[in-house]
Amino acid sequence: MIVLGIESSCDETAAAVVSNGKMLSNAIASQIAVHSPYGGVVPEIASRKHIEAINPVIQQALRDAHVTLREIEGIAVTRGPGLIGSLLIGLSAAKALAFALHIPLVGVNHLEGHIAAAFLAEKVPAIPFTALVVSGGHTSIYLARNYHDFELLGQTRDDAAGEAFDKAAKLLNLGYPGGVVIDKISKGANPQAVAFPRAMKDSPDFSFSGLKTSLLTLLKKRGRDFSAEELPDIVASYQEAIVDVLVEKTVKAARDHGVNRIVVCGGVAANSRLRERFAAETSAQNIELFIPPVILCTDNAAMIAAIGEIMLKNGCRDSLDLNAVSRWPLA
Ligand code: KG4
Ligand code: ZN
Repeated sequence: MIVLGIESSCDETAAAVVSNGKMLSNAIASQIAVHSPYGGVVPEIASRKHIEAINPVIQQALRDAHVTLREIEGIAVTRGPGLIGSLLIGLSAAKALAFALHIPLVGVNHLEGHIAAAFLAEKVPAIPFTALVVSGGHTSIYLARNYHDFELLGQTRDDAAGEAFDKAAKLLNLGYPGGVVIDKISKGANPQAVAFPRAMKDSPDFSFSGLKTSLLTLLKKRGRDFSAEELPDIVASYQEAIVDVLVEKTVKAARDHGVNRIVVCGGVAANSRLRERFAAETSAQNIELFIPPVILCTDNAAMIAAIGEIMLKNGCRDSLDLNAVSRWPLA
């Protein structure tokens, strides 16, 4: 089956073609440069940019995949969670295409899409597996009982891990998106230089707001004029505190449920230290690790088409009155 995926839940306008679990194209128009001066995504601007980008991005996805619109057999679109004004742009485009082409439409949960990025690899995780979805808006661990059936094992009680990266970068005037900058600055620095807190040690849930406060306290105490050597050590230590709990809790959740497969996905899964630590920890414990390539960790439409194809093949269909939802728990 040839499926066109469309994603517009936040600040990337994306379209992709997937066929029989293989990615044929993955077009992304990023708005990072537009939102950067504001230090975060401005929803109203995001919606306007999605309108400008949506048709060219769809055209590019078709061109790159060497398929025509007439060859598309189904449309998968992110229905939520996300910014409602942004979601509506992708959803409207998807509905228009499904209507005009007389092909089925399916609305996809963005978080389920992130997990499905792992299904585009040569080696697909077998069932059951545990999945850490770690992005700018979410930090949750799921048990996948099937490719479209999840149980929530743990989640953040306050900020998402990506938010913890972004807020720290903002406090330190490092730019946006914070995770990317902090990842880069931390390379080669000392991750043990500052003892940042690791919250909720004995719970499957996460909490990152105390970590952010602890950075703020440090900045107040010492002032913001760090030497060129000090700053990398501070951000590397901050990053390490986030990575530590993500790795520990995910591995523990897998162990507790007798599962020896872990999927790590979402924007923060692009983090090089997180990838390194998961690789080391899972190999030491004989757990199979599945982390999509960086381009499929951050927001994209190939992941939406990937789960969309599975859902369409299972008979899932949505009607043309499908609405976007800003909040939509996966389980
Ligand atoms: O999945 P995503 O693209 O959008 C959401 O669904 O939220 O995730 C965006 C988040 C941002 O918070 C960004 O700072 C973080 O992913 N991120 C990273 C890295 N690349 C993106 N965090 C840490 N290290 C990275 N290399
Ligand atoms: Zn995302």
